[in-house]
Amino acid sequence: MKTLAILAVISFSFLFYSCGAKDTQLKITKEQPKKAFYIVPGEDDPIDSALVKRGEVLIAYSDCYQCHKEESKAKGPSFSDIARRYPIQEAYIDMLARKVISGGSGVWGYPVMSGHPKLPADEAKAMVTYILSLEEK
Ligand code: HEC
Repeated sequence: MKTLAILAVISFSFLFYSCGAKDTQLKITKEQPKKAFYIVPGEDDPIDSALVKRGEVLIAYSDCYQCHKEESKAKGPSFSDIARRYPIQEAYIDMLARKVISGGSGVWGYPVMSGHPKLPADEAKAMVTYILSLEEK
């Protein structure tokens, strides 16, 4: 009985110890410099301000802010980091809009972005245009 109790204490303290270790790891990754990711080279094209406004409204009514924040990391990369990464060009807007619809992972080192299969392509593009417009802020 005594050995059992001792064993229980040991395994509990190990549990607490490993949780504590996880916490410090999290803090370290949070303090990494903002630009610790690959920036895709390319010029920005002129941006359609009406589309930006539409995207802003669409995002406000969708679930995006459950995982994204404008300035800081959350479950997903911050919108301003996404804006810093990609040039404002039709090809990237198209690619990112498809990714918002299909969902996916593997680009930023976060877990998975859920898909938005019911989202029409033009709405996804408006949202992405809004996100990419945040670069200057
Ligand atoms: C369940 C959480 C979650 C939700 C909800 C979510 N995202 Fe994401 N998003 C992520 C994650 C995680 C990533 C990083 C994926 C990766 O590393 O490939 C990401 C990445 C992105 C990217 C960059 C993709 C790339 O390949 O660089 C864009 C753009 C984006 N999200 C837009 C949106 C929009 C718009 C919405 C709302 C319609 C949305 N997200 C909702 C979690 C989410």
